[in-house]
Amino acid sequence: MPPIVAIRDLARFVGEQVTLQGWVTHRRSKGRIAFLVVRDGSGNCQAVASVQDVSADQFEQLARLTHESAVRLTGVVREDERAPGGFELQLAGVETVQLAEEYPIGRKEHGIEFLLDHRHLWLRHKGPWAVMRIRDEIVKACRDFMYERDFLLIDSPILTPAACEGTSTLFETDYFGAPAYLSQSGQLYVEPACIAHGKVYCFGPTFRAEKSDTRRHLTEFWMIEPEIAWAGLDEIMALAEQMISHIVARVLERRSEELAILERDTTKLESVTPPFPRLSYDDVAERLTRPDIVARAQQAGAPPFQPGSDLGALDETILGEMFDRPLIIHRYPTAVKAFYMEPDPERPDRALCMDIIAPEGYGEIIGGSQRIHDHELLARRIDENGLPEQAFRWYLDIRRFGTVPHAGFGMGIERLVAWISGARHTREAIPYPRTLRRLYP
Ligand code: 4AD
Ligand code: MG
Repeated sequence: MPPIVAIRDLARFVGEQVTLQGWVTHRRSKGRIAFLVVRDGSGNCQAVASVQDVSADQFEQLARLTHESAVRLTGVVREDERAPGGFELQLAGVETVQLAEEYPIGRKEHGIEFLLDHRHLWLRHKGPWAVMRIRDEIVKACRDFMYERDFLLIDSPILTPAACEGTSTLFETDYFGAPAYLSQSGQLYVEPACIAHGKVYCFGPTFRAEKSDTRRHLTEFWMIEPEIAWAGLDEIMALAEQMISHIVARVLERRSEELAILERDTTKLESVTPPFPRLSYDDVAERLTRPDIVARAQQAGAPPFQPGSDLGALDETILGEMFDRPLIIHRYPTAVKAFYMEPDPERPDRALCMDIIAPEGYGEIIGGSQRIHDHELLARRIDENGLPEQAFRWYLDIRRFGTVPHAGFGMGIERLVAWISGARHTREAIPYPRTLRRLYP
């Protein structure tokens, strides 16, 4: 029996007989010769048979193979520069494992909604295949980056009793008769853990019942959230900038084939190195109120930026386009940010927080801050925000037993994947997107 080989490894088997297991993506016959292209998840390979190479029955089978039929092909590996992937299989045997029914995704252009309705099949195609491989590399790069810097993984719960990022985007579930909410962020749970371990992170799915129907919003997305004891805003800005640069460099190094499939302009990624520009919210507000920028927002039909308010999607796009690498914006007004953010001692109406805006219009990819560590102040902020004190008792406890300054951030994986791979929409950056209008498949 010839060895079963992945297409990726064919180079090691030139001149030998092997078996490939895969799915038919193309088939054509020219008289006494049949050509197939198969995909096995690791790559694509062309296979060729003339009528005398295989049995009459097998040659018949070849002629009947439909798009996405599952096959086992046996043959000798030949080097051929003209073949996709550089190798070709000279067929000696074919086994049809399943003859596929008429495949719904054709060669013609399909609309995005049709493709998303068939996401379970669309995942096989070149574009999604490349994006998922880039996503995998990004996730691995995140975990390696944390591990190499002695951050401990602390998994946070998904079922929670309280809100972290505002009560208007909570998904409520029935927890044996009492309300429970799907986690919006693991932050509240990594804060206590950083007091136990110094440097920690969580990495998992998070949920926002967000009524925003934009290319940046999912209702279920993955977030990595480091948290560091004895750290402040400067430390997390430095960490975030190193982390993003590390991830981009790693994808450029190991996923160049996938970036090429997606026709990603990699020169735009090569400039992503520290230091990133750092602007305060007030610097940014000054830029956004310049007449030329105001005119641009008007043209785009977006409401003009109001100093003191949070940034809108278009504001972030405009700012992101001003630089060739991610932009760090720090010290937003406390009034527009979350209840747990430490006020700037030099200017208490500004928070010790930062957002990182990706270039090329991908918007905010990171949000983070130093956390309030004073018990009285935090209790007051919880009360002012109308949050139920009972549900936050344990969180306030951390401020009663050896409280110290600490800081962290959250990075949304899909926005990062969309930006790095050049996908138009975050829904293409996750295998099975959940959005305002989609819970299928
Ligand atoms: O800015 P956010 O809401 O921050 C937090 O959740 C903090 N508790 C994190 C922390 O400090 N540990 O969200 C962080 C990031 C955003 O910058 C964005 O990348 C992503 O999560 N994100 C979303 N991604 C896709 N769809 C959504 N609806 C998202 N909301 C946030
Ligand atoms: Mg944010």
